[in-house]
Amino acid sequence: MPFRDKSNSRYKLLSLLAEAKSAVVPSSALIADMGISRQGVAKLIRSLRGEGLEIISIPRKGYALEDICNQDALNPTLIDYLLKDDRVFSKCVYIEEVDSTQQVLKSLAAQDAPEGIIVTADHQTRGRGRRGRTWLSPRGKNLCFSTLLRPELPAGDAQLLSLAAGLAVRGALRERFGVEAELKWPNDVLSGGKKICGILSEAASEPGRIHYVITGIGVNTNLKPCDIDAEMAETVTSVLIETGEYTPRPLLLSHIFSRFSALIQTLCGPEGKTKLLADYRANCATLGRKVRVTENGREYIGVAEDINEQGAIIVNTGGRAGIFAAADVQHLRQI
Ligand code: BTN
Repeated sequence: MPFRDKSNSRYKLLSLLAEAKSAVVPSSALIADMGISRQGVAKLIRSLRGEGLEIISIPRKGYALEDICNQDALNPTLIDYLLKDDRVFSKCVYIEEVDSTQQVLKSLAAQDAPEGIIVTADHQTRGRGRRGRTWLSPRGKNLCFSTLLRPELPAGDAQLLSLAAGLAVRGALRERFGVEAELKWPNDVLSGGKKICGILSEAASEPGRIHYVITGIGVNTNLKPCDIDAEMAETVTSVLIETGEYTPRPLLLSHIFSRFSALIQTLCGPEGKTKLLADYRANCATLGRKVRVTENGREYIGVAEDINEQGAIIVNTGGRAGIFAAADVQHLRQI
C-alpha cells in the first residue's frame, strides 16, 4: 500500500464529516475526536472552506459536509480522502494555476518523488498535448491532472500505461456518467466522434528499466458549447454537452482512478500484459476501421487490424502491414 499521512488534521476533520454522509456532526464530537479546541475546529473548517469545500454550519449543533458527490472544487484533502483505499495513488497536490501539471510532476519526479502522486490544477496556462500541441482548458471547467508511476516493467512497455489510462477514462465515462465514450488509438477518448479526453504519457527510461512515467489526463468536463471556439466545435465535446448535466470533478476523478489503479495492478501482475491488451483490443473503436495514419509527415490509408504487444497499431495499407508506434490516427468514414 502507498504511504498516506492520515495524521494531517484537515484530513482527519474531513474524514469525520465525510463518514457522517452529509448528516450534522456535533461540534462536541469533533472536538473530542480531534483532541483540539472549539476554535481549532472552527479554524480548520474555515481553511477547508477557503479551498472551496462546501461545509454547512448549524448554530449550536455542528457541521455537515455537502454530499461529496456534489462537490466540484479540486480540493486536495477531499481527493486524498476519495483515494483512501487506492493501492496505487495516494497523494494529491493541487495548484490553482500552473503552466502544465506535466511540468510540475516532472520536477517532482526528478527530486525522487514516490510513485502515486497526482498533480491537479484548476487552470493550466501552457497545457501540453501530444506531438507538441497545446491543450486548452478554461478555468474551473475541466479536469486536468498528471500522475507519477514507477512501474517495474520493461522500458518498451511504457506505452501500455497510456492504453490503461484511456481504458479507465472510457470505463468511468460510460459506466458512471452515461457517456457513449469510445477509444481512438492510442488514447483519445471520443464521444459522437468528437474528443472528450486527451492523454499524454511521458517516460524516462534506460534500456530494460523505466524510471518513471508521467501520464497526464485532460477531460472536457463542464464545457458549454459557448466555451468552445468555432473552429473546434466540430471536433471537441464535453461531459456536460453529451449528458446535459454538470459533473463534479472530484467524483469523475475518483471514478477514473479506481479503474486506472485496477488496470495498473493487472498490468504489473502475472499475465498482466495479455489481459490488458485483450481488454484494450475489445474496446478500441479504431480496430476494424478505415483510418488515415500520419507519421513523420507521411500519410497512410488502410484498415486498422490489431494492436501489437507494445501497444503499437497494425494497419493494413493495401496488403502491407504497417506498424505505427507513435502516429496520429484519424477515423475515416466506413467503406
Ligand atoms: C492530447 O490529446 O494531445 C493530450 C492532452 C493531454 C492534456 C493533459 S491535461 C493534464 C496534463 N497536463 C498537460 O499539460 N497535459 C496533460
